[in-house]
Amino acid sequence: MLVNLNKILSHARAHGYAVGAFNINNLEIAQGVVAAAAVRRAPVVLQLSEGALEYAGMEYLAAIGQVAAETHHSLKIALHLDHGKDESIVERSIKSGWFTSVMIDASRYDFKKNIRVTSRIVELAHARGMSVEAELGPIAGQEDLVRVGRDGAALTDPNEVKKFVAATRCDALAISIGSAHGSVKYLPNEQPKLDLVRLKQIAAVTKIPLVLHGASSVPHALLTELHQSCSRFGDCSRVHDAIGVPEAQIKKAIALGIAKVNVDTDLRIAFTAAVREKLLTDRAFIDPRVMLAPARAAVQKIVEKKIKLFGYGTT
Ligand code: G3H
Ligand code: 13P
Ligand code: ZN
Repeated sequence: MLVNLNKILSHARAHGYAVGAFNINNLEIAQGVVAAAAVRRAPVVLQLSEGALEYAGMEYLAAIGQVAAETHHSLKIALHLDHGKDESIVERSIKSGWFTSVMIDASRYDFKKNIRVTSRIVELAHARGMSVEAELGPIAGQEDLVRVGRDGAALTDPNEVKKFVAATRCDALAISIGSAHGSVKYLPNEQPKLDLVRLKQIAAVTKIPLVLHGASSVPHALLTELHQSCSRFGDCSRVHDAIGVPEAQIKKAIALGIAKVNVDTDLRIAFTAAVREKLLTDRAFIDPRVMLAPARAAVQKIVEKKIKLFGYGTT
């Protein structure tokens, strides 16, 4: 069944686990994610980025989410707009009636404007029973086409959190504590490190569920699968040296108040590795289903692992 973020995240924060939030761009990814949630009987967030909506169309992706929820009636599934930066898209998502929650990402604005933009969206969404995730402190990475530095300037200021949450009445808060979006996450001399002290300070001033973005771990084994035959493709150096957030740090962050963990990159790597493997080892097919079924299974496998890591059913 479809539920809003409040229904699943408050329970998660209160019980020390996190709900996995996975980006879906097509049928196979959505089916892989939902199949994994069904195996683990876990709540899950299916989230659609503005890029995904541009690629597949809001109606198509939302319909997939609706069908998933009807098919798996006993599962709690939130259908969520990820990183809504364009206010007109956020409004359209709210008014469509398809989503259960939206993220308004106004973190690129100054504190006052972030509050102004976020509050307006919260008002619109709450009037329709939808919950809202907001963002305070822009998260590093390539999502904005700008590399946000790690000198502390972009990290969420704990002193601003209480005022922001009270003023906006948002339901969940994405915070910037050192994770980064995308597959090229760290410079060679950088080590992925979440600022857990900062997280503790933030968690001490608000009870609302906190959200960790850019939480792919880019596991070495997954990269190895991706690169196994890549010399035959010629170009895949882009993700060669990528490292993500170590799983141990994600566990610690969940223990400290992170209740929603966003993962996209690891799904992309798993999906692409499976498609490459199929294309390179089986030249006898022209049926896209033969190529995409292993990718769907690969997504399911990694999502099952993530759900386990995030602690649902174990706390
Ligand atoms: O945080 C961003 C997600 O990974 C979505 O990426 O805009 O390429 O769909 P996208
Ligand atoms: P990654 O692509 O780094 O996994 O981040 C996903 C995310 O934060 C989606 O909002
Ligand atoms: Zn994100």
